Amino acid sequence: MSNAAAAESFGQFEGTSGYIASRSLIDAVNCSLALERPLLVKGEPGTGKTLLAHHVAEGLGMEMDSWHIKSTSKAEDGLYVYDTVQRLNDARFGDGNVGDIRSYIRLGPLGRVFSSEKRQVLLIDEIDKADLEFPNDILRELDEMQFTVMETGDEVKAKQRPMVIITSNNEKELPDAFLRRCVFHFIEFPDVDQMRDIVDVHHPQVEKALLEQVLTKFYWLREQKELRKKPSTSELIDWITALLRAGVNPRQLEAELPFMGALLKNEQDTKVISQYLDRDGKLPTSLDELKGPGRR
Ligand SMILES: Nc1ncnc2c1ncn2[C@@H]1O[C@H](COP(=O)(O)OP(=O)(O)OP(=O)(O)O)[C@@H](O)[C@H]1O
Ligand SMILES: [Mg+2]
Repeated sequence: MSNAAAAESFGQFEGTSGYIASRSLIDAVNCSLALERPLLVKGEPGTGKTLLAHHVAEGLGMEMDSWHIKSTSKAEDGLYVYDTVQRLNDARFGDGNVGDIRSYIRLGPLGRVFSSEKRQVLLIDEIDKADLEFPNDILRELDEMQFTVMETGDEVKAKQRPMVIITSNNEKELPDAFLRRCVFHFIEFPDVDQMRDIVDVHHPQVEKALLEQVLTKFYWLREQKELRKKPSTSELIDWITALLRAGVNPRQLEAELPFMGALLKNEQDTKVISQYLDRDGKLPTSLDELKGPGRR
């Protein structure tokens, strides 16, 4: 392959109109595609980790399958399950083809994307929810992209290596052996300009003056050290939805924070801000008054 052809095939993902991705995130997706290694995405809650997988699939014109990890998830669930209960029922009531074990093998998300004729995106969402051994347990299958169904001896081998996107909220450290096999990207919290673009995707009709007030209050809240949980992008989007539905005007936002429950999710945080406002604490009215990353 010539250098030019290689460069062209390297940059396959260019983003989508519904997802605002930084250059470094787009590069990480393309790096993961080129290396055929899973992309591990970390970042604060609500920074678009899960949504990314949907948009990578859309951008690449691929189907997506998902595996949402829970504390009880086991590696085997991703491969296949042997439905012994159904087989037992069929044996009791004389239904189904009990002699054919294959009809009781249900493929899990990994099994399904491996068997797909077309290359797919597989989202393994919130890998840190499972126990510590879980990432190690799926290492081999992710590396080799194949496994054996013990009950039938059938080999399930990826026809096309899927694009695997793994998300983590950092609840647990991931093992080094696992990390070595991934391409890593941390989604930085969006700056004001990126946030304007994100808001525009969801609320293109929002008036400029209202948006300025909303962003000023939002980034001011994120600067408050007393808060236990800073509001996230998804909470900002919800807050704007509430403000628009209620017809709140920019002036009303100068001295109050209506629908605070869309932004702050515990009573201590709500109390800190309410007490500040009750003491006649001033809210900034322009981004220039902020100190942190929200400042223009
Ligand atoms: N870059 C972005 N472009 C467009 N919308 C975004 C972006 N980032 C966040 N959002 C908005 O935030 C919402 C939450 O995103 P998502 O569920 O992907 O976050 P997450 O990082 O997976 O959060 P969690 O860690 O809580 O699962 C999305 O539905 C979307 O409305
Ligand atoms: Mg998520």
